[in-house]
Amino acid sequence: MAGYKVLSFDKISSTQTYAHDMIANGTATDHTVICAAAQYAGRGRYRRKWVSHHGNLYASFIFRCIERDSRLSYAVAVAIIDTLAAYGIDATIKWPNDILIDGKKVAGVLIEYAGRFVIVGIGINVHSNPTVDEYKTTKLDKYADVELPDLMARLAKKLDKWMAAEFDSVRLRWMESAAGLNGLVKYRGEMVELIGINDSGALVVRRGAEYFLVHGDEILM
Ligand code: BTN
Repeated sequence: MAGYKVLSFDKISSTQTYAHDMIANGTATDHTVICAAAQYAGRGRYRRKWVSHHGNLYASFIFRCIERDSRLSYAVAVAIIDTLAAYGIDATIKWPNDILIDGKKVAGVLIEYAGRFVIVGIGINVHSNPTVDEYKTTKLDKYADVELPDLMARLAKKLDKWMAAEFDSVRLRWMESAAGLNGLVKYRGEMVELIGINDSGALVVRRGAEYFLVHGDEILM
């Protein structure tokens, strides 16, 4: 993993928590990645638990960051899609950055800001997929032969590529792979049509003839 400082563990509570601790105690540097073979307190979005048995990819990438940027989440989703494409896997993105194969979740992203850094936590189901109440899940080895070190190296490279790319190419690639574009999503209790994302990363939706922008986690798909 050229350009990265890699810290690997067999089992820790959460790579994400470990990354926060490094930032808090001043040992974090740009392009540090914490990997674990398993986690006993893996965390997902919306305070959900991320079941983390051995055999899957669990990594938290630390990048120096000047300010919050909602566009980052799209670049990360596209990096994962592009990584999977190298194995011949055609995945889709459910806004903002859940990664699906055949409509089932195979990877999730948790982005957290701390101090002068952003932590990009990525979990990918490779050899097992947990049963989750809220959504259906799947795993990569149903679709391709995937070795964890190879997956990790490819992912790190694609993150570098897409995080440095012009947002317009990220946006176009994200729209190409987005599930549910032009479909209906729930916004503040009413159904609106999902049109896409604009050049600052806001979601564009349509209610009748009216187009408007939505920020944050207000959309239910
Ligand atoms: C989601 O809810 O979809 C996001 C899941 C993010 C899971 C990853 S696994 C590596 C890192 N460590 C954690 O505890 N969470 C993230």
